[in-house]
Amino acid sequence: MSALSERPENPIVGIPLPHESAALHVTGEALYTDDLVVRTAGALHAWPVQAPHTHALVTSLRPEPAYDVPGVVRVLTAADVPGVNDAGIKHDEPLFPTEVMFHGHAVCWVLGETLEAARLGAEAVEVEYEPLPALVTVQEAIAAESFQGARPHLERGDVDGALDDAAHVFEGEFEFAGQEHFYLETHASLALVDEGGQVLVHSSTQHPSETQEIVAHVLGLPSHAVTVQCLRMGGAFGGKEMQPHGYAAIAALGATLTGRPVRLRLNRTQDITMSGKRHGFHSTWRVGFDDEGHVVGLEATLTADGGWSLDLSEPVLARALCHIDNAYWVPNVRVDGRIARTNKTSQTAFRGFGGPQGMLVMEDILGRCAPRLGIDPVELRRRNFYKSHHTTPYGQPVRHADRLQACWDQVAESGEVARRREEVAEFNRRHPHTKRGLAMTPVKFGISFNLTAFNQAGALVHVYKDGSVLINHGGTEMGQGLHTKMLQVAATTLGVPLERVRLAPTRTDKVPNTSATAASSGADLNGAAIKNACEQIR
Ligand code: HPA
Repeated sequence: MSALSERPENPIVGIPLPHESAALHVTGEALYTDDLVVRTAGALHAWPVQAPHTHALVTSLRPEPAYDVPGVVRVLTAADVPGVNDAGIKHDEPLFPTEVMFHGHAVCWVLGETLEAARLGAEAVEVEYEPLPALVTVQEAIAAESFQGARPHLERGDVDGALDDAAHVFEGEFEFAGQEHFYLETHASLALVDEGGQVLVHSSTQHPSETQEIVAHVLGLPSHAVTVQCLRMGGAFGGKEMQPHGYAAIAALGATLTGRPVRLRLNRTQDITMSGKRHGFHSTWRVGFDDEGHVVGLEATLTADGGWSLDLSEPVLARALCHIDNAYWVPNVRVDGRIARTNKTSQTAFRGFGGPQGMLVMEDILGRCAPRLGIDPVELRRRNFYKSHHTTPYGQPVRHADRLQACWDQVAESGEVARRREEVAEFNRRHPHTKRGLAMTPVKFGISFNLTAFNQAGALVHVYKDGSVLINHGGTEMGQGLHTKMLQVAATTLGVPLERVRLAPTRTDKVPNTSATAASSGADLNGAAIKNACEQIR
């Protein structure tokens, strides 16, 4: 171990500090992407033409009437795209679709001198549709065999043998819906083009590099001609990992065609109707227990409701498969996954990223089987906890499993769970129509990206002649305090006071080819990059 990687004498890391923008947040002075428009002269405003059908063909689209609306500057359609008419990293998301895939799908966009002009222009665009049958629920998609993407399979041991020999076998079906991110700041982009044709997009994005890539594809430009900056986001929760790209591309396309800055900010209704959400899942399961309540075998099929296109459905589903064991030893296990293609928004990353969906299935199993086994559900869970000699179904050795038991005991004690469960039981005895419940649920969660190549980060650190320091890193700030921690890492590693270090906004021309700020990895990955850069400078 080098002297530099030993614990520093005066670490600033670890000191509790307010968020670096706390004062700006509470005074309202902090700038979010859409606030920048007031500082941008001559910006045009974008408004979508949203389809009123769940599934339909666009049989004709007449933008001409929009130009009769005062203040309408340009209607953007597929014919305007110089590059690829696609906003998805999987190339399955036409930016200007000829087939409407969900209610509210934007078929074209109108740019106006004012937001109201753009809105009225969008109303004036004449679109004709031929409605098609739609698949709205996962069950409908399963019946129609409407699937997309990979079908992962996870298997260990002899599941059929274990279920044949099990003392108790139960089966069930479980379905749960998705969830809206409801970040305070809706999707927003502001695009500008300079005199040399360099495109700058301010975007509320967790993944500036991928936003840059999609904007470049749509515009038919190399990546070096597009810069994406994200100063901060007003919340994201996974909803801005992949979904901002298309909106950034629309703004950038508008800016390149008109030569004027273009601002696109979804209002709340547009955001909710157009942007992806957490995946709902459908599952079927069969499980075997021995007489003591130990799980001996599990077979399950998980169907994620992917919505109309793939987006991040494949890694979300992979993570669900990798969390079906949750905190429990399942010696024999077989899980199949598939992604339903439905006429809904394209479902996307959301805190936990499929992990909670996988865990829920296992918790449903234990919760429903406990009464049938005659074992208390809290005890059934405890009995099945991982031990340190176990491995997960995907082959990772389980370490420190004793911590699981220790956490469990501590929560039970500090939460006075035994006493409160008695209270709940007493309440339920006295109230035939109103019931209470109290659950205690363990969680094992795998942080960082399953695709290990994404577990990387970069940093750019400048030390100026006066001794002041400017740091850049590839992570994005969405309220979680990443930038505060990065300043602490730089000050600690360089051995300078915190005031000496300043942080520049996240930009693709400073740190390229970054991973999304996601997977609970932002501080670890970017912090290590900053530390490494500072160590080299020292
Ligand atoms: N979380 C976890 N894993 C991931 C994510 C995420 O947001 N994105 C890609 N892989």
